[in-house]
Amino acid sequence: MRRRILAALGGTVLAIGLAACGGEGAGGGDTAGERPTELTIGVSMPTQTSERWIADGKAVKEKLEAKGYRVDLQYAGDDIPTQSQQVDQMITQGADVLIIAAIDGTALSGQLQAAADAKIPVVAYDRLIRGSSHVDFYVSFDNYKVGVAQADALLVGLGLKKKDGSKGTATGPFNVELFAGSLDDNNAHFFFDGAMDTLKPFVDAGTLKVRSGQVKIEQAAILRWQQETAQKRMEDLLTSSYNDGGKVDGVLSPYDGLSRGIITALQNAGYGAGGRKMPVVTGQDAEIASAKLINDGVQNSTIFKDTRLLAEQAVVVAEAFLQKKEPQANDTRTYDNGVKVVPSFLLPVQTVYKDDIKPVLVDSGYWTAEEVAAGQAKG
Ligand code: BGC
Repeated sequence: MRRRILAALGGTVLAIGLAACGGEGAGGGDTAGERPTELTIGVSMPTQTSERWIADGKAVKEKLEAKGYRVDLQYAGDDIPTQSQQVDQMITQGADVLIIAAIDGTALSGQLQAAADAKIPVVAYDRLIRGSSHVDFYVSFDNYKVGVAQADALLVGLGLKKKDGSKGTATGPFNVELFAGSLDDNNAHFFFDGAMDTLKPFVDAGTLKVRSGQVKIEQAAILRWQQETAQKRMEDLLTSSYNDGGKVDGVLSPYDGLSRGIITALQNAGYGAGGRKMPVVTGQDAEIASAKLINDGVQNSTIFKDTRLLAEQAVVVAEAFLQKKEPQANDTRTYDNGVKVVPSFLLPVQTVYKDDIKPVLVDSGYWTAEEVAAGQAKG
């Protein structure tokens, strides 16, 4: 919207802009009466190296376009300056709502200030944007529960718990190692907290042993969620803590990409062959390559977060803002971004073991059986 561009440029120019643009879509405070075709939603996604963000971007775009909105979808290649620049551009080009999945949750405060000045509502998508009062809403999954589910899957895989939550038959002790996501992603902390709260009693009882001693999130974190970094850390852990013949029984991994790096390191060290059992490795996102690994009995599990539902929710929220309505939150307590508690809509998550692939992933149309067998999306 032309008026919005001017708004972003400052007060004096704004006054001229308002006079000059007449009935044109003004965004911000004035979108309620606009036709969807007059409105643009800027969608900023972090990276295309992970399938889930490709699926998220595609689903949000398609759902908004199906309602007639114009969509400016950008991927930032996991590069913070690129994302800042893309969001700046969305603002100056007159976006009416911004939907942002941040790379670094604290790096966008300048952009959010500019969005607020131009009265553009900002929806944080899956990753909370921190340190700014200008985050209007947050759509995500129950991130603490993701961590709990990952830890539970690890315990189930080791036989310490049953799927129904009751006590398992195994007694241990088991050697486990812990991985966490990128420290600049707010979710990484929720995942790790949920997991550690669940594992702590077993660690305290000596049933789970972390030979490396690396139990703090700062020690377990993998910057930008990179698969190769996780592989390297697993290799280092094997060298430093398991070169006396000790074996790893399980690895807490918060994301399928990391899990694949971890599995590669373990396989290179001889696990999963010649009678040496592959440790129980968890995951998240139900990525197709990992769905195959789970189907083949290599990876233990993943946590499925239906990105179709998240995209749908983002569209509902964006539309509410455009119609000047208050989006409906189902959590107004949990997500404090350091400046304010951001009203949130959180979706549930589901653990997927081998037996769940068909009912949860295939029957819902998320992946086809052929894709799972091939470990590749048809595109
Ligand atoms: C998301 C996860 C994802 C991770 C890495 C997190 O913010 O919530 O679903 O696995 O980023 O992309």
